[in-house]
Amino acid sequence: MAERIGIVTGGGDSPGLNTVIRAIVKAASRRGWESIGFHGGYEGLLNPMEYRSLEYRDMDGLLFRGGTILGTSNRGRFSAKVGHGEVRRVPEDVLGEAHENFKELGLQALVCIGGDGSLTIAQQLFEIGMPVVGIPKTIDNDLEATIMTFGFETAVSCAVDALDRLHTTAESHDRVMVLEVMGRYAGWIAASAGLAGGADVILIPEIPFTYESIISSIQEREEYGKRFTIIIVAEGAREKGGDYIASEAGKRAGEARLGGIGHVVAGEVQKRTGKETRAVVLGHLQRGGAPTAWDRHLCTRFGVSAVEEIAKGNFGVMVALTPSGIAPVELVDAVDSIRTVPPEGEIVRVGRALGISFGGG
Ligand code: F6P
Repeated sequence: MAERIGIVTGGGDSPGLNTVIRAIVKAASRRGWESIGFHGGYEGLLNPMEYRSLEYRDMDGLLFRGGTILGTSNRGRFSAKVGHGEVRRVPEDVLGEAHENFKELGLQALVCIGGDGSLTIAQQLFEIGMPVVGIPKTIDNDLEATIMTFGFETAVSCAVDALDRLHTTAESHDRVMVLEVMGRYAGWIAASAGLAGGADVILIPEIPFTYESIISSIQEREEYGKRFTIIIVAEGAREKGGDYIASEAGKRAGEARLGGIGHVVAGEVQKRTGKETRAVVLGHLQRGGAPTAWDRHLCTRFGVSAVEEIAKGNFGVMVALTPSGIAPVELVDAVDSIRTVPPEGEIVRVGRALGISFGGG
């Protein structure tokens, strides 16, 4: 039976982190356990002073507060995923130091709240003997073994709000508007927001696009009197035979920071059609602010389930949303590969049935 548990939030922030922390701390405290939170992501584990005790009464107001009160980082000595799916082992001395500090603090379990990279680190900590339980966090929704990650729905809602706004201005000016959204190498945000927000063209990494296909959609719309077009493009989308667009300045530990494809697409569309075209990069607005009702509900269930797994002594697992509710799955299965949008799957089929172009062909 645990008496003292640790919590770490790793990688980029995601709406709902504080909601999860609140659920863990409340559920743990009602069992009489103490919770401590590490500051600044996994780096906090390397400095035993970088933690704080989390009390039940500190949880007030966290249900709907964006960000993470613990801070997080996608930089530093813990780096387990590089680029598109390449796994790197965190140096053994770094993992070992984290384990030693964990033991010195008298912890019996560590809850790791993270996406693909952070949960790969959690798996590596588990392999050296640390009792970890993972919680699937990422706006990208690209983790295997869970139907959905938390933060995704909030990011999609933000993108849909942006599309609604772009619609009215695009229509007023007869323009093509291009909205670039995040998602790394998965097109979940673009595809889901594109359907929900009525985009005419959806460009995702899973379906490399051609400009001919995009232009023919714009022309088709013009022919039946629609003089504006809305394009949503995932940051990881690329032209058939082309490369990902990344900012050189953003490179970290060999990992490219994706971004810029929106402006590239807008420039090319304007050149080829002569239509005024504007690009908007939604950026970190997608990650900021309060989580939606669905994300709050999901985070609350994830947090309580993680505490239940600790009580059972079930480690090396991630709590996942499954068809039968929240259930533990092997952590290793969640990080084995990233989950992407099936190019011939239901979402794409639904879009095509409505006449939405995915730019392929
Ligand atoms: O993984 C979440 C995410 O927001 C991606 O969609 C995006 O590519 C990346 O993080 C941006 O990271 P940073 O915080 O370094 O800008």
